Amino acid sequence: MRLSQAEFEGMSHPARRFFHRHVEHRVFLWLGLDVAGKNVLEIGCGNGYGALLLSEQRPASYHGVDLMTEQIELAQRRELPGFSFSAMDATHLDGIESASKDVVVIFGILHHIPAWRDAVAEVRRVVRPGGLFFFEEPDRRVIALWDRCFDWGHHPDAGFRLGELEAAVEEAGLSIEGRRVLPQVLGSYRACRSQ
Ligand SMILES: C[S@@+](CC[C@H](N)C(=O)[O-])C[C@H]1O[C@@H](n2cnc3c(N)ncnc32)[C@H](O)[C@@H]1O
Repeated sequence: MRLSQAEFEGMSHPARRFFHRHVEHRVFLWLGLDVAGKNVLEIGCGNGYGALLLSEQRPASYHGVDLMTEQIELAQRRELPGFSFSAMDATHLDGIESASKDVVVIFGILHHIPAWRDAVAEVRRVVRPGGLFFFEEPDRRVIALWDRCFDWGHHPDAGFRLGELEAAVEEAGLSIEGRRVLPQVLGSYRACRSQ
């Protein structure tokens, strides 16, 4: 779903960039994120700050997709050489070939997608056997608290419990091999497509 105007602006706040770089990305590095020389897809790339962080490891290719064209325009303004972006729905990654990506990355977007299980199935489709999926998401209870504090206006049914997310990822055929979880708050994971 599209972000509310308040959340859209919040995504460009310096505090968001600080958390993105020093917590979310750092935890992925701790979980073994290494995109050097890899073909990378970032789903829900937002304004491209994740792309900037991933560019530091020099992937062979990077493509970022997001539902909101406003986000894609911001991401394209970063002018990262060799990086491409396009507007796309995570539940229908049309045009992205099956098993074409070495690494798929998600920084906190599945909780915005009512049919988030379909997005997980698309990750499983586009990542190659042996390829990796790094993702982090808040627990549903934090989203409710966040909305009370910041009025970001998530859909009342937005999100999931972290346990539900973990089960859905495993059921989709991606084995979780690493995790860093703050129970009932935030989970970061590394999963692998075995076949
Ligand atoms: C909370 S923001 C996070 C953006 C970015 N990953 C970051 O960490 O700054 C969630 C993003 O998911 C995108 N989004 C929501 N639903 C989507 C969908 N169905 N397909 C692709 N992107 C989606 C939104 O447009 C938004 O940019």
